[in-house]
Amino acid sequence: MSVTVRAFREADRVALLALWEACGLVMPWNDPGKDLDRKLAVGDGGLLVLEEAGVAVGTVMVGYEGHRGWLNYLAVSPTHRRRGCGERLVRAAEDWLAERGCPKVNLQVRTANTAAARFYEAVGFRVDDCVSYGKRLIDDGPGDHESRAKS
Ligand SMILES: CC(C)(COP(=O)(O)OP(=O)(O)OC[C@H]1O[C@@H](n2cnc3c(N)ncnc32)[C@H](O)[C@@H]1OP(=O)(O)O)[C@@H](O)C(=O)NCCC(=O)NCCS
Repeated sequence: MSVTVRAFREADRVALLALWEACGLVMPWNDPGKDLDRKLAVGDGGLLVLEEAGVAVGTVMVGYEGHRGWLNYLAVSPTHRRRGCGERLVRAAEDWLAERGCPKVNLQVRTANTAAARFYEAVGFRVDDCVSYGKRLIDDGPGDHESRAKS
């Protein structure tokens, strides 16, 4: 398998949104098109695409706010799993952060997503002694009241 990791291009948009949906990453309280546009508006080049034979088969969104790096929207097409693609994307995101001097990377995993938890542990992440807090500032979707803080 010959895969490469590169920055997002506008031509990837439709494939990326379909990939996020197919990977179960689209939650009712999030609008993935708006999430994509907001990341592009930041202009940091932190939306990475894993491509095989010209087809986008994976993504990761990476960012650095000056203290911690953050990973979001890590996704590998169901047809390409367990071949090292997820690890490849995480390593590319870690390289992206290291180039910017970021000392630590954080991420959130939904408690029900035990497969993702096992993946992150396999690639070197450990559970921090923290509780994750959030506060919704812009209402993007029809999610119920309890879900509004969700990431
Ligand atoms: C999580 C995800 C990105 C992993 O992608 P992947 O390309 O299959 O991962 P890799 O092949 O690089 O896996 C590396 C190691 O992680 C572990 N791992 C990966 N998927 C696993 C799973 N479903 N269950 C247990 N361990 C897993 C294994 O140790 C694996 O090594 P091995 O295949 O030699 O046993 C992919 O399953 C996915 O897109 N899931 C849906 C979206 C998602 O949940 N994203 C994370 C949101 S927080």
